[in-house]
Amino acid sequence: MPRQARAACPVRVLIEPAERIKGRLAAPADKSISHRAAIFAAMADEPVLITNYLEAADTLSTLAAIEQLGALVERRSEGLMIRGVGLRNAQTPAQPIDVGNAGTLIRLLPGWLAGQDGSIFQLDGDESIRRRPVDRIAEPLRLMGASIEATDKRFPPLTVEGARLHGIDYTLPVASAQVKSCIALAALLAEGSTTITEAVASRDHTERLMVNAGVKISRAGNELTIYPTDELTLPERIEIPSDPSSAAFAIAAAVLVPGSRLLVEDCSVNWTRSGFIKIAKRMGAVIITDLEERPRDGVIAPQEPVSEIDVTAGPLKPTTVSADEVPLAVDELPLVALMACFAEGQTCIEGAAELRLKESDRISAVVTALTNLGADAEATEDGLIVDGHGSLRGGQVDAAGDHRIAMLGVVAGLASQEGVEVVGVEAAAVSYPNFLEEIAALR
Ligand code: S3P
Repeated sequence: MPRQARAACPVRVLIEPAERIKGRLAAPADKSISHRAAIFAAMADEPVLITNYLEAADTLSTLAAIEQLGALVERRSEGLMIRGVGLRNAQTPAQPIDVGNAGTLIRLLPGWLAGQDGSIFQLDGDESIRRRPVDRIAEPLRLMGASIEATDKRFPPLTVEGARLHGIDYTLPVASAQVKSCIALAALLAEGSTTITEAVASRDHTERLMVNAGVKISRAGNELTIYPTDELTLPERIEIPSDPSSAAFAIAAAVLVPGSRLLVEDCSVNWTRSGFIKIAKRMGAVIITDLEERPRDGVIAPQEPVSEIDVTAGPLKPTTVSADEVPLAVDELPLVALMACFAEGQTCIEGAAELRLKESDRISAVVTALTNLGADAEATEDGLIVDGHGSLRGGQVDAAGDHRIAMLGVVAGLASQEGVEVVGVEAAAVSYPNFLEEIAALR
């Protein structure tokens, strides 16, 4: 099948140290919510208009996937009009579904497909996807009644044979919003209710969309219960807020480059995504914003809250990031490690073994990148340790096909003493296609 491969000739860019970061940023739309909104719209009977959908490689893969499954995607000036197929009518595509580099797509979509009784679906992706474990979703979907095949029972390509599903009680072995969401989607088509127990909270966009779609869903402590339904009744219009994980790159640059002042416009401040801002503030960063509070037990807020984020550069101190904070900042931990280089003293990130299973092994990738730039960084089994000395020399960072490592290299360059050459910067397009231009406009 045609698979997206890493660019044969990686693009190199030299990022000179910035004098300051100044201005306003409208960060791109949230990747996690975009994937989910498109999948929910595909599962609905009535058309849904999605405004501010993320037009990046990962989320374009999701649009292509839902089109293969029979949804119609129409581009209008105000947004994407998606006409779904209904919960139980996904068509069997003529070709395998190509998820590209999108881990969220290959983990979430099988939840819906597993409930398509009698239909078979194949999913595959690029070389990085073929290294990302899917046994974490295969196991619960099998317990619900579907047949799932994967290479070595663990890696894509993945074959999902839909069946009549039944609800399960399942304790997540890893704190993963992708796994939680996959099971939750399958639960919509199952007989009986499904209860998912998560020891540590993770992003809750699927739960919020379910509330908006009229699904019966409740939370008690760390148990989430979802009841099946015949139909999703989504609002006519879903607006996607800006992505805090994308905004975090410019925020880190503004924290690190002396004399900076950055205003991020209407960004998601969902409490399950605010870990990075909290850690940065603990390190001494001056960030003014209105983060959502963790809700009372049992309440799932339907809205995705947004706020301005006002950032000023300032001196940093080291910190320890603990396992329960990891899912709330999982994609921003490379930036925490970078900021730690500029603090005086030791920063530890603990309980983050999941980082090894991202688009790259992000523990090794971050340690290699920062060490190449002159930092004192060391990998542990489940995290990393950085001894900060107040500055970073500069050098070269190889993105190795990982969008967040490419953008980490750019931010490191802005804050470094001598600049950074980023090799493979084009990887940023997976989540943030205009990253270089938007960062350049802030200099
Ligand atoms: C995501 C969840 C996280 C995150 C990923 C997006 C999601 O993965 O790293 O970029 O949209 O649910 P895990 O759920 O595997 O931790």
